[in-house]
Amino acid sequence: MDYTNMSGHYDVIMTSGYYDYKGIVDSLVKHKPFDSVLEIGCGTGLILEELAKRDAQIKITGVDLTRAMLDIAQKRLGKFPSIELSEQNVVHFDLQKQFDLAFSYGGVWYFVIDGDNEPFMVSHIPEDAPNEEGLHQLSKHVQSGGQLLLGIQGPHHDYERPISNGMIYSQKILPRERGFIKHYYLNDGPNKVMEQTVTYRTYSFEESLKMLSDNGFEYAPNSDTGKKFLSFKKR
Ligand SMILES: C[S@@+](CC[C@H](N)C(=O)[O-])C[C@H]1O[C@@H](n2cnc3c(N)ncnc32)[C@H](O)[C@@H]1O
Repeated sequence: MDYTNMSGHYDVIMTSGYYDYKGIVDSLVKHKPFDSVLEIGCGTGLILEELAKRDAQIKITGVDLTRAMLDIAQKRLGKFPSIELSEQNVVHFDLQKQFDLAFSYGGVWYFVIDGDNEPFMVSHIPEDAPNEEGLHQLSKHVQSGGQLLLGIQGPHHDYERPISNGMIYSQKILPRERGFIKHYYLNDGPNKVMEQTVTYRTYSFEESLKMLSDNGFEYAPNSDTGKKFLSFKKR
């Protein structure tokens, strides 16, 4: 799903408390040892910057399909020789290499955990066949015994709140069959400065574990407190 409309405003929205980038990387590095890392849906590179600052030895690749997001990532990450970026749709991507660890946080696939309810998987890809193809492609990029981490988020709900530049961010969620539609808005006083709509597909925990297992990724639960990812081991 293309993020061009949001790209110029993405960083200020996200770093105004939407995601906890330090916490995400704290959780990620608990999965060491790994020498090579792939982020699918790396966006503007906020996670990769934090990861490269902590460990300059890790070879990092970020893929994303939105050119405008990658342009911002390129400016942010150009100073880190350990990072490569690639414009790819995960549905068809082929980097001709394998990684010790692949992850996605808010990009492409993630899990929502709402209290004691069973987690469910959210995909930025609305149709089933390309979800299968994307997981198949992803599987080819993780070496046997390697790890896949998919981010955990809380439930989505409607709200509006000011962000650090004084503008008002708001979001509205509309259910659809087997998923939901999320509208993102940014307003500067009475002026709408950004509007983006993303259609998401959701999968029950059982469906997602099956899809992942069919593509070589077995659920590997751990009891870390404050963890930001569910983890899977590649057969
Ligand atoms: C919410 S952003 C997350 C960015 C980053 N992971 C972060 O935490 O800031 C989602 C990103 O996933 C990318 N994305 C969505 N579908 C994709 C696909 N099929 N292939 C590659 N990237 C995709 C979008 O372009 C967008 O940059």
